[in-house]
Amino acid sequence: MNGAKRGFSSRLTRYGDEGFAAFLRDSFLRAGGHGPEVQGRPLIAICNTGSDYNPCHATAPQLVEAIARGVAQAGGTPFVFPTISLHESFAYPTSMLLRNLMSMDTEEMLRALPLDAAVLIGGCDKTIPAQLMGAISADVPTLSVAVGPMLTGTHRGERLGACTDCRRLWGEARTGRLSESELALAQDELMPTHGTCMVMGTASTMACISEVLGFMLPGGASIPAVHSGRLRHAEATGQRAVALATGGRPLPSQLVTRSSIRNACMTLQALGGSTNAVIHLAAIAGRAGLALDLDELDEIGKITPVLCDLKPVGRVYMQDFHAAGGLPALLRELMRGGVGFDGDTTTANGRTWAEVIEDWPDWSDPTVIRPAGDPVVPGQAISVLHGSLAPNGAVIKRAAMSGRLQSHEGPALVFENLEDLARRIDDPDLEVTEDHVLVLRNAGPIGAPGMPEAGSLPIPKKLAVRGVRDMVRISDARMSGTAYGAVVLHVSPEAAAGGPLALVRDGDRIRLDVPGRRIDLLVDEEVLWARRGNWSAPALPTRGYARLYATSVEQAELGCDFDFLTARHLPADD
Ligand code: FES
Repeated sequence: MNGAKRGFSSRLTRYGDEGFAAFLRDSFLRAGGHGPEVQGRPLIAICNTGSDYNPCHATAPQLVEAIARGVAQAGGTPFVFPTISLHESFAYPTSMLLRNLMSMDTEEMLRALPLDAAVLIGGCDKTIPAQLMGAISADVPTLSVAVGPMLTGTHRGERLGACTDCRRLWGEARTGRLSESELALAQDELMPTHGTCMVMGTASTMACISEVLGFMLPGGASIPAVHSGRLRHAEATGQRAVALATGGRPLPSQLVTRSSIRNACMTLQALGGSTNAVIHLAAIAGRAGLALDLDELDEIGKITPVLCDLKPVGRVYMQDFHAAGGLPALLRELMRGGVGFDGDTTTANGRTWAEVIEDWPDWSDPTVIRPAGDPVVPGQAISVLHGSLAPNGAVIKRAAMSGRLQSHEGPALVFENLEDLARRIDDPDLEVTEDHVLVLRNAGPIGAPGMPEAGSLPIPKKLAVRGVRDMVRISDARMSGTAYGAVVLHVSPEAAAGGPLALVRDGDRIRLDVPGRRIDLLVDEEVLWARRGNWSAPALPTRGYARLYATSVEQAELGCDFDFLTARHLPADD
C-alpha cells in the first residue's frame, strides 16, 4: 500500500508532482463516467478472467456483476480489471508454461493499480494457483471466487463428466469398443454447462485449497457454476472484500503459514485430489517464504483417510460433493478423525475453521463424504517416492492405480520425448508387453518445456485392444487431475536437467515399490557414469518468455516457480 493513502489516492503515477498526478487521475475518472462519489470509498479491484478462449470461465461476467453488487451494498467502489486467462485446451504447448506469466500479471496489477482489496475470479486449472501466487507476493488483502464446477451430463442413462469420462470414452473409441457416432453423441454430454471440470481434478482441488487456506468464503469451492448460490457467494465475497479493505487484513502472508499449508496437504489427501496440486502448493508456499516438504506430505497421507468419493478416485461428481455438505463438511470429518487438522487457522470470513465447522449445517451425505473410519480406498491418496531414478522425488496417485502394480519390476521402454511417444506408441511392431515400464523423458519443466500433462502415457494400442488397462508409466511430466493409473510423475531432477531419467535405456530394469516409497533404476553406477559422459544438455530457447522460463524455472519439488519470484530465502515468520 502507498503509505496511509487509500483508494484512488493511493499509488499515484509518478510524474514528480503528486498534485498533478491526482488531478490527472481524477480527470480520467471523469472521462470514465464516474462522479465524485466514486472517491473516498473502499476501492475493490475485481479481476475478470472471462475470455472467449476460456469456456470454463464463461460465467465470469455474471460473477463480476454479483461481486460488484456486493461491494456496492457494503459501501465500496468496485473496479474491474483483466489479466491473462488460461484454459487447459486453448494453451499451446501447455497452460503450465504460462502459469508463472499469469502469476506475474496478477502480482504486478495488484501492485500497480490503486486498490484497497482485490477479488480474483479463477477456476480453470492454472488460474487459481497463478492468482494465489501473485496475491501472496503482492500481499494485498485478497479474496478468491471460483467460477465453480459444471453439472454432469447423461448418455444412455450413464452420468458423464469432464474430463475423467473424456479419457475413458476416448480410450474406448481408440480401441474400437465405442463407435465414432456414439462418441459424438456422448461428447455433447461431457461438458453440458459452463464451469470447470466437475470431477476432483486440478480445478476443483485448487478451489478447495484456496478455501482451506482462507482465500475463499467457506463452502465456496463446490457450488456449481450455474447454481444461483454461486452468484450469492460472489455477492457475499464482494461485501466481505469491503471489510478486508477497511481493516487492511488479513494479508495473504498472514494466511499462508506452516499450519495452513499442512492443513492444505491434509485436505488434498482427504479429497483424493490432483497430483498437480503438489506442484502448485509448493509454489504457493514458496511465495510465502516456506518450503513444501514432500516427505511431510507423504507422512500426512499416511494418517489422512481418503474421504471424498469423487472421480477419478471414487464414484461421483462436484455437484454431489456440494449437496453432501461441501468442503466444511469434509473438514469436520477430518477434525473428528483426529488426524491433526488445525482448526485455529483463519477462514476468509474472519472466523477460525473450528468456529465455521461448529456452525456448519450438521447434515452431510456419508456416501459422498465418508466418515473417517470408512474411507473410500484403503491407504493414502498421493504417495511420494524417492530412489535412484528420482533423487529429489516423484509422486504417484496411489488411490487411482491398479493395486497389483504397486510393487512391480520390469524392463524399460523409453520414449525420448513427446514426438517420439506420438510416433511409436500405437505402432503394431512396438515390442512391448504389459510388464514393461513405459518411460517418457524430456517432458519436464525445462525439457518439454512447461511440464505438460503427458505423464499418463496411453496404453500401447496393441495391448489396449487385448484389454490391458494399466501399466507402470514414469516421466518427468505431470498428469491431468482427472486421469488415473500406475503413473509415476514429476520425476526430479528432470531429464533435461541431467537427472537419472536421462540415462535410462530400453531394457534396463526398473523397480516400483509404492509401499516402500521407492522408484529405482537397477543399473550399476559405473554403467550410468559412462552413459552420463555421453549425455549433453538440450539447447535452450534464445529469446522471449520461453528463454526466461527455461533459464529460471525451478524443478517440480519446488513448484516450478521462477527462482526470482519465490521468497524462500526470506525468514519464515509464522
Ligand atoms: Fe477448465 Fe478442466 S478444462 S477446469
